Amino acid sequence: MKVYLDNGATTKVDPEVVNAMKLYFLEKYGNASSLHSYGQQAKKALNNSRKVIAKIINADPEEIIFTSGGTESDNIALRGLADANKKKGNHIITSKIEHHAIIRTCQDLEKQGFKVTYLDVSEKGFVDPKDVEAAITKNTILVSIMHANNEIGTIQPISEIAAICREKGVYFHTDAVQSFTKVKIDVKKMNIDLASFSSHKIHGPKGVGAIYIKKGTKVNSLVTGGAHEFGKRAGTENVAGIVGFAKAASILNKDHLEKMTTLRDELINELLKIPHVQLNGSKQKRLCNNANLRFNLIEGEAMLIHLDMNGIAVSTGSACSSHELKVSHVLKAIGLSHDVAHGSIRFTLSKYTTKKEIDYTIDKVKEVVLKLRKISPLKPGYSAKDFPDHNH
Ligand SMILES: Cc1ncc(COP(=O)(O)O)c(C=O)c1O
Repeated sequence: MKVYLDNGATTKVDPEVVNAMKLYFLEKYGNASSLHSYGQQAKKALNNSRKVIAKIINADPEEIIFTSGGTESDNIALRGLADANKKKGNHIITSKIEHHAIIRTCQDLEKQGFKVTYLDVSEKGFVDPKDVEAAITKNTILVSIMHANNEIGTIQPISEIAAICREKGVYFHTDAVQSFTKVKIDVKKMNIDLASFSSHKIHGPKGVGAIYIKKGTKVNSLVTGGAHEFGKRAGTENVAGIVGFAKAASILNKDHLEKMTTLRDELINELLKIPHVQLNGSKQKRLCNNANLRFNLIEGEAMLIHLDMNGIAVSTGSACSSHELKVSHVLKAIGLSHDVAHGSIRFTLSKYTTKKEIDYTIDKVKEVVLKLRKISPLKPGYSAKDFPDHNH
């Protein structure tokens, strides 16, 4: 049996999305800036897609800029805003559990003279809005806190944080790459100034995304060229990709979310029955498709390989950093020791995940944990009786 449980890394493209895109590769392939009918067809598709994305987050279409994905959107939010507002101040606030697209961009901005505060999170992975408020100074220009974490699925109190920023006159950006279409976002009600989205996490094509930039927000373009995307992002638009992104965003419905939540809970509850297994992150405020657990006395990589041999694809830490063998900065930030963090596995479901697949995964994880613990040298504080045969 093949079970793909790495949907936090990327997802299968929905056949409906492929179908919608096909027309824009083979027939309506014009450049959206061209004046002839081919160009106008492409422009129409671009505008319709913009309306679709805008409606989902209650923005105006002109506030949506299409990009090459979440990484570029995060870069525009940080670098573009920092550059345009450097006369106002040089301080940025973010958290220790952001995606590398934010953390490494902030580190680069530090080299250019900006000051960055990386806020701590609680052991469940939450940023405290009071910490944000306390960190704001007269030099603060931007607060960037992710909506949902890509590793442990924690959903941040971004409404509260954004309300503080609005009151203090500081821009608020959220990386909503993992939450988009899974958790309701209303940029107006939630006081969000900028937000990043990506298509390939929601059954759309890779290399497409968007950034919401509230009207009046000062952001400089990172690349120079034509006047595409209201002068905020030069380069011929990836029309087929954008059509696919909008299609994908409009397909996910309440039933999909409920199904993922039920299967996620079954997976978490069953795996927690294994001795010395704990959940990373919060049980309640977490993404409907994310289960991240730590299996004490086990190497995550060994577990990943054994599960892969059984046809199950999962990840250790975040996919982007799993080749580095460094412990995940997110798991470190929630206070896990090196060994414990190394035994953590992330399972991320999709609308395609079935109960049969989850039941199979539960059985195989139990089997693999038992096998690996038998060969694992026991560490102080544990004895063989802590690991009875629990192959049920
Ligand atoms: C929270 C978060 N932000 C940003 C990104 C980067 O998005 P993209 O792969 O579209 O560049 C990811 C992808 O893993 C993510 O999970």
